Amino acid sequence: MPFWGLLRRKQRTTAARAPLSPAQAQSEPPSEQERVARLQRRYLEDVPYLLPKDEAEIDRLNFQHYALMSVQKVHIVVPLENYPQAILDVGCGTGLWAREVGHRFPSCRVVGVDVEPPERLPTTPVNVQFLYSDVLKGLPFDDNSFDLVHQRLLISAIPVRSWPAVVRELVRVTRPGGWLQLTETGGYYHRPGPLSLRVSALLDRAFERWGFDPYIAEHLPMYLQQAGVVEVEKYVYSVVLGEGGGQGGRLLQKDLLALLHALSERMASLIAREEWQRMLEALPAEWAASQTAFQFHVTVGRKPPAS
Ligand SMILES: C[S@@+](CC[C@H](N)C(=O)[O-])C[C@H]1O[C@@H](n2cnc3c(N)ncnc32)[C@H](O)[C@@H]1O
Repeated sequence: MPFWGLLRRKQRTTAARAPLSPAQAQSEPPSEQERVARLQRRYLEDVPYLLPKDEAEIDRLNFQHYALMSVQKVHIVVPLENYPQAILDVGCGTGLWAREVGHRFPSCRVVGVDVEPPERLPTTPVNVQFLYSDVLKGLPFDDNSFDLVHQRLLISAIPVRSWPAVVRELVRVTRPGGWLQLTETGGYYHRPGPLSLRVSALLDRAFERWGFDPYIAEHLPMYLQQAGVVEVEKYVYSVVLGEGGGQGGRLLQKDLLALLHALSERMASLIAREEWQRMLEALPAEWAASQTAFQFHVTVGRKPPAS
């Protein structure tokens, strides 16, 4: 058995950090330096999404899916009934999660929505459908439509001021007694060395400046509860980065470095590009020396059953 540095903790949740106020969250226009740097990768125009959307990012998202799955082991952590009828994946990216869930539940309608929906591959099961939808403008579904609503890693797509409304929208389309499963990450490290702390602090500053919440994973339980969701729980997965974390650690280290590189152009307004690159190059050695672990959080809850 590979040596997994995996700790799975189940937490009853309370928000530890106050969310940003809308005033703090006002986005600043990109600087000239940032605008020039951004020309090198493709970005979405009509949504405030921070990450690139191009071939390299598609590769990273696919790779990231396998990295997360190698740690989480199951696609669905909530106790879903055996024969769900409809499952929604919001911000579905390359559609891998939806496709695999479609294979797992062949009689269930699985819908993935994204502002740039993935192509339908020959291997996409017939019960899986991909649609355009901008979650910031509401979802094109009736109330109470889905047994499970899944959303993963929209930390860099949903501005802090929009999260409460987005969560209410996810709850609206969940059927009474149905489940929500929201996976997010952030600068959550165990045993961080000085370089990890510096990178984390820079990212926190950048996200706050751009109007995003770097600690959304901590605030999601509160947003769910405010939207009337019950049985809210959080699962925290913690993986030692690199060799020390076995296969999961190796995959997540590669994914995290690719993500930090994907943010390079945006970070150019806060730190010299060469310095950011130097820091990223030095991170793996520090992670190995400190046995630094990285965390992702899966928050779940249930829409109250109809009385
Ligand atoms: C980091 S990716 C995560 C993709 C997928 N959930 C996963 O875990 O692999 C974020 C996705 O959100 C999509 N996105 C960004 N803004 C969005 C919006 N306003 N509405 C719907 N999808 C959005 C992007 O196109 C991208 O595919």
